[in-house]
Amino acid sequence: MKIPLAKPEILESDIAAVVEVLRSPYLSQGPVLHAFEEALAAYLGVAHTIVVNSGTSALHLALRTLGIKEGDEVILPSFSFMAVTNAVLNEKAIPVFVDICPNTFNIDPAKLATALSAKTRAIIMVHSFGYPAQTHKIIDFARRHSLQVIEDACEAIGTEINGRKAGTLGDIGIFAFYPNKQMTTGEGGALVTYSAMTAEALRRLRNQGRQSSPEWFQHIEVGYSYRLSDINCALGLQQLSRIEQVLSRREALARSYEERLKRNGNLTLYTKESKNDRISWFTYPVLLAENFHQRDRDQVWVNLKQAGIECGRYFPPAHLQPVMHTVPFRCGDLSETVSIAGRLLCLPFFNSLEENQIECVCAALSESLSHRISSKSLSHATS
Ligand SMILES: Cc1ncc(COP(=O)(O)O)c(C=O)c1O
Repeated sequence: MKIPLAKPEILESDIAAVVEVLRSPYLSQGPVLHAFEEALAAYLGVAHTIVVNSGTSALHLALRTLGIKEGDEVILPSFSFMAVTNAVLNEKAIPVFVDICPNTFNIDPAKLATALSAKTRAIIMVHSFGYPAQTHKIIDFARRHSLQVIEDACEAIGTEINGRKAGTLGDIGIFAFYPNKQMTTGEGGALVTYSAMTAEALRRLRNQGRQSSPEWFQHIEVGYSYRLSDINCALGLQQLSRIEQVLSRREALARSYEERLKRNGNLTLYTKESKNDRISWFTYPVLLAENFHQRDRDQVWVNLKQAGIECGRYFPPAHLQPVMHTVPFRCGDLSETVSIAGRLLCLPFFNSLEENQIECVCAALSESLSHRISSKSLSHATS
């Protein structure tokens, strides 16, 4: 049985909505874009949503709008998708990596102080895997030190912190809609803000610095071509209309994995820290026990692949990527990042995942882990 890591859910109604746009004269900057932006703003409970062509474009515009410039320092996790670091580097700002909490896989607020310098301007707070970061502590810290907060909810649409949606608590929030996400537009992203002025600046920047005025060719600043087509927005609008059902389904899948794996002493599962929070499950991560090493995790990954099961080795730490030899960055102790990145495995996770597939993944995982344990004891016994 072949089980992919992720799979988008495309219904006939999604296809019909896309076709309807294709039959219309408005493939870009048309009514469906506005409808998608309005629906997203209503779902998140924010004043303004600006959709763009990727989550990375959203990060870039967030940094630009908050005035992050060459030489400014931006605090961020090394344990995240490389897009976060790339966005900072593209602005010639300096990434300052802070370690993560082992129980949230997100930035550890207690370690923020060690990263501060006179050049620190912003924090990018990521909600990895849809798991809520310690948002209030991070924002309090930022306010005390006059730092801006970009809230990266690319993996966390629908995640809630004390009843508020992830992405709506920082100065600017961002989302991504790649096909492995809880909802997709094919490619795409979004920014959210409460400020009308920031929203206008973001709309200008996504469309070549064009001022919104009857005078179409009025470019008042250097901008980008980050527009999202109405074709993508049609898919997004449909997907968003059933997001709550999707998140409930994914919650049930996570519970099913948990039921099967919770007694496996070789694993630590991912649980909620506070009853007031809600996880929007992006994937299903399991952490191998501390007596396992990266080579064990990689061997388990190979074993599962051979059994037709695709797993993810998210995230190789950003500070260890080869490109980081060529750019400036700062970091302190990142031992939790390195330890967790080497032991984490993300299991197949998508809406149409079936119970027998979950059963098959859990059985193959448990068997592979037991195998690693017995080969370890064997090598201890013979050494
Ligand atoms: C945390 C995080 N930030 C940013 C991005 C970038 O999004 P995109 O791939 O749409 O550019 C991603 C993408 O998966 C992500 O996981």
